[in-house]
Amino acid sequence: LFAGPVDFLKGVVAMSGMPPADRMEVCFAGRSNVGKSSLINALTGRKTLARASNTPGRTQEINFFTLGEERYLVDLPGYGYAEAPVAIVAKWQALLKQYLSGRATLRRAFVLIDTRHGVKAVDEEIMKLLNRSAVTFQVVMTKADKVNAATREANIAQVQAALVKHPAAYPEIIITSSEKGEGVETLRAIIAGLV
Ligand code: GTP
Ligand code: MG
Repeated sequence: LFAGPVDFLKGVVAMSGMPPADRMEVCFAGRSNVGKSSLINALTGRKTLARASNTPGRTQEINFFTLGEERYLVDLPGYGYAEAPVAIVAKWQALLKQYLSGRATLRRAFVLIDTRHGVKAVDEEIMKLLNRSAVTFQVVMTKADKVNAATREANIAQVQAALVKHPAAYPEIIITSSEKGEGVETLRAIIAGLV
């Protein structure tokens, strides 16, 4: 587990509500239901810290968690969720874009991609935004327990091919399963090692 304690700090619905940018942070971005909140729970060993749910659109605010006194972990609302009311989706997306492009202390964005589905057009949009904003991002593939070996290899290759276009992409992809624990220690070590 992480060296320091992890606690929920606050949920933010507008840039004006952000905590002061006084320490490094990493965020978890990805399509709705990809497993962002579950991954934060797996990383912290706290099953109910971030609210996970089978209903897409579960996380509706930008949730800040303190990791010791030196870092924030940030759980983002998902993108690409078509069923929510248009006005609400537009509001989240605007906030998400402002956050991803304008947070000075954002050290790395983890872009989560479902191992079953690979990179979709909406993921490309987010990667382009991160690229334009010069935010280093790293792909984390989720729900690896749900695919067979052939699909896994094919979708890893598809992601690798997509990353070539993005200079802000960190080349190493991490394959995870929050359910089975695969890759969780690797990701934890990466976060702990960021300075
Ligand atoms: P939003 O907040 O709605 O954007 O979703 P999210 O990306 O935070 O996803 P969340 O963590 O809520 O997980 C969505 C669903 O996928 C839940 O039912 C989780 O239990 C399930 N899930 C997440 N990670 C895994 C995994 O590694 N393996 C399996 N089998 N299921 C997972
Ligand atoms: Mg969530």
